[in-house]
Amino acid sequence: MTETTARVVLVTGATSGIGLICARHLATREWRVFGAGRRARDGEMVDGVEMVTMDVDDAASVERGVADIIRRAGRLDAIVNNAGFSMRGAVEDTPIEAAKALFETNFFGALRVCQAAMPAMRANGGGHIVNMGSLAGIAGVPFTGLYSASKFALAGLTESMRYETRPFGVRVALVEPGDFKSEIDAKRRTAAPAGSVYQVAFERFLARRSRYAAVAPTPEPVAALVEQILNDPDPKARYVVAMPKQRLLFALKRITPQKLFEALLARLLDV
Ligand SMILES: NC(=O)c1ccc[n+]([C@@H]2O[C@H](COP(=O)([O-])OP(=O)(O)OC[C@H]3O[C@@H](n4cnc5c(N)ncnc54)[C@H](OP(=O)(O)O)[C@@H]3O)[C@@H](O)[C@H]2O)c1
Repeated sequence: MTETTARVVLVTGATSGIGLICARHLATREWRVFGAGRRARDGEMVDGVEMVTMDVDDAASVERGVADIIRRAGRLDAIVNNAGFSMRGAVEDTPIEAAKALFETNFFGALRVCQAAMPAMRANGGGHIVNMGSLAGIAGVPFTGLYSASKFALAGLTESMRYETRPFGVRVALVEPGDFKSEIDAKRRTAAPAGSVYQVAFERFLARRSRYAAVAPTPEPVAALVEQILNDPDPKARYVVAMPKQRLLFALKRITPQKLFEALLARLLDV
């Protein structure tokens, strides 16, 4: 396929999990979809998605990937900044280098893609940016501090960009998923040095947390929400998509005094 009149979207992190399901879903809905990832093979067509090799940690890789999409499709209407990974462990135990690596992907990766894609979207007269946040970006979650911080950072970026890009017709929104089945658990990095003073509490947390992951649904609701946002000429800033209990819990964060919310979350997570 070359130049197209269909709207063109780039989904990062489209080789597994939420991004894969989003990319496939959009490809069935009149979008021309480019799906990116380090494992993606350039030019390969998978389930209607054109794959692009891209490491969001690497500025040259992002610039080359975005330029290649624009060369192939002649336009770029939307990006879904979904590439990311998770990390657990006590904040005190997390090496700075590990924390930087997490931000490199979850925050700076999204920033790089935004900066590379904005000129094309401005030239088009508009577009959509959807950033993949997390419930952990609404409330700081114990033993998930650096991941929470990276998603809070992405939320701040999203809210700030909305003012700046609105005059150019570019709408920015944040999707905040609860637990969904993906490769995130298998790929998660952990900072838990032997002999840590946090070991007992961390293990209790992990045991409790694994109960939620075990019942996590597959990510189709996230894909449907992303499609809804991309079709909305004026989307909201933030959208939660989660199992009912998780949705209720994080809705309480907005209306409950912080100390009460902390007591509730501590009880639920056994910390
Ligand atoms: N699943 C959940 O419960 C959940 C909940 C809240 C938020 N999220 C967020 O949803 C997003 C997707 O996660 P997921 O659950 O679908 O996990 P996943 O199955 O592990 O998918 C992660 C995707 O990100 C890509 N990726 C990771 N590092 C990358 C890099 N440096 N450059 C380019 N691509 C990279 C991976 O592709 P390659 O390995 O091919 O590079 C993969 O396609 C993440 O931002 C995550 O924080 C997930």
